[in-house]
Amino acid sequence: MQKPIIIAHRGASGYLPEHTIEAYQLAIDLGADFIEPDMVFTKDGHLIARHDHYLSTTTDVADRPEFADRKTTRPDHNGEDWFSEDFTLAEIKTLRAKQAMPNRNQQANGKFDIPTIAEVFALTRANGVSAKRDVALGVYPETKLPGYFKSIGLDYQPALIAELKTANWWQDQFPLFVQSFEEQILIDLKKSNPEISLIMLIEKKEQLLLEQYAKFATGIGPFKALLADSQGKSTGVIEQAHELGMQVHPWTFRSDQLPEVFASPQAEYDFFFDLGVDGVFSDFCNDAKAAKMARIARENKPTIKG
Ligand code: G3P
Ligand code: CA
Repeated sequence: MQKPIIIAHRGASGYLPEHTIEAYQLAIDLGADFIEPDMVFTKDGHLIARHDHYLSTTTDVADRPEFADRKTTRPDHNGEDWFSEDFTLAEIKTLRAKQAMPNRNQQANGKFDIPTIAEVFALTRANGVSAKRDVALGVYPETKLPGYFKSIGLDYQPALIAELKTANWWQDQFPLFVQSFEEQILIDLKKSNPEISLIMLIEKKEQLLLEQYAKFATGIGPFKALLADSQGKSTGVIEQAHELGMQVHPWTFRSDQLPEVFASPQAEYDFFFDLGVDGVFSDFCNDAKAAKMARIARENKPTIKG
């Protein structure tokens, strides 16, 4: 797969409610190299695609009187909400997704259901090499809150491995990265299945412990602001990661929340491509893909010798 890889962050989430099959399918149609499902658990141990275990911001759960008494609190979340681990998969399947960001198109609210990771893997598998794609689609699942879920008896290590077995990943591999903000689940997966590529997510400067991560990770997924200083110079993170043999996939590129210093989405992608990133997480994967293709075209342009 030609770098930098384009990772459709939560699907084509700039256009459709995030983490729905429809948002992933649109991302695939727009040319994404990978689709990115965040994962949480249901009460009965199924992995579903949601960014958060609280459900009110991305589903219609608050409008469902039958679930009114499930509203409760959890230590990691401010205020009351409804939480995935209190719902069976059958109950989750009665909910409908909605757009989380008020500035984005709301027209698809209430139309799509909440997919399981099994469904996301099946979609990935269905988009292998074909007349439509010369490179198989990849999937880039994130284990959300692994320490918390393990503390209530829901462990990603066996659950994810079981899903990959069901998807026949060991017989016929599709491109795969597994990511987390928590080291321990990646260490557990490295121990049980060293053949799986792992990405350590980094949000803050003080978490830049690259030599430590290189022992188990194929790469890092840093907040993009950690890669350049206020003068637009590299902070050295990319260079150090590359010296340690790790890829760098920063997040999150959003054409509708462009940092002031960039005149266009393409200018932002070009800046990070020039810094040397190996991939980008984008809500608008068509813009990321266009910037990538323009760069490839520039690099392949024949030079006229005098
Ligand atoms: O997983 C990379 C990036 O998605 C991390 O941010 O909060 O959108 O999962 P988040
Ligand atoms: Ca994520």
